[in-house]
Amino acid sequence: MPKKLKIKIAPSLLSADFSCLAREIHKIESAQADMLHIDVMDGNFVPNITIGPVVIKDIRKITKLPLDVHLMIKRPELLIDNFIAAGSDMITLHIETIPGAKLKVQSAKLKKKGIRLGISLNPNTPLSKIKPVLNMVDFVLVMSVYPGFPGQKFIASVLPKIKQLRAIFKGDIAVDGGINQDTARQVVRAGANVLAAGSYIFKAKNYHQVIRGLKCLI
Ligand code: DX5
Ligand code: ZN
Repeated sequence: MPKKLKIKIAPSLLSADFSCLAREIHKIESAQADMLHIDVMDGNFVPNITIGPVVIKDIRKITKLPLDVHLMIKRPELLIDNFIAAGSDMITLHIETIPGAKLKVQSAKLKKKGIRLGISLNPNTPLSKIKPVLNMVDFVLVMSVYPGFPGQKFIASVLPKIKQLRAIFKGDIAVDGGINQDTARQVVRAGANVLAAGSYIFKAKNYHQVIRGLKCLI
């Protein structure tokens, strides 16, 4: 990993206790998280349904943490404006859901608004699929599980993909799925610098301790 990229932690809200969401978010904020990873699922691109712009809009009111919105939805270009209006600071689209030409339009729009754009790819999607769009995005989110559910096992075969990506991409490389102290070390060694972690953080008693541990890996 290039020395200048510091490790950033993006707790994935999906593993929080939704019956006291505001409290969970405030705890994560004071635990020195760098952003809040929000998983949006449509029951179509992935076999689960989570939250949408209505909830994100209210989350925006109660935290200063950058909102890192991970869209796991089909035809994201139809709904992206709602997520912008809700207050997203970063939006990640899946390469499996949007062709390059449409991504280019979204990229120009987000740039004007000062919103960072990420591209994500599933474990079985080769790096070659995102290579043509790397110049349109600010960061890449490498999926290390098949998206849909928290608490899945990290798929180690994505490590060479992270390594190859780091060789050609200077921006943030985030990894999402099955991150814990051990897998975090592996992905950081491979070249990633942003860790999206759900169950490992939210199932812990002390969020701050876990986040601190993830930040000092090497
Ligand atoms: C997977 C989501 C992830 C996930 C992370 O579909 O995009 O953000 O909830 O959860 P853990 O860290 O438990 O794998
Ligand atoms: Zn995610």
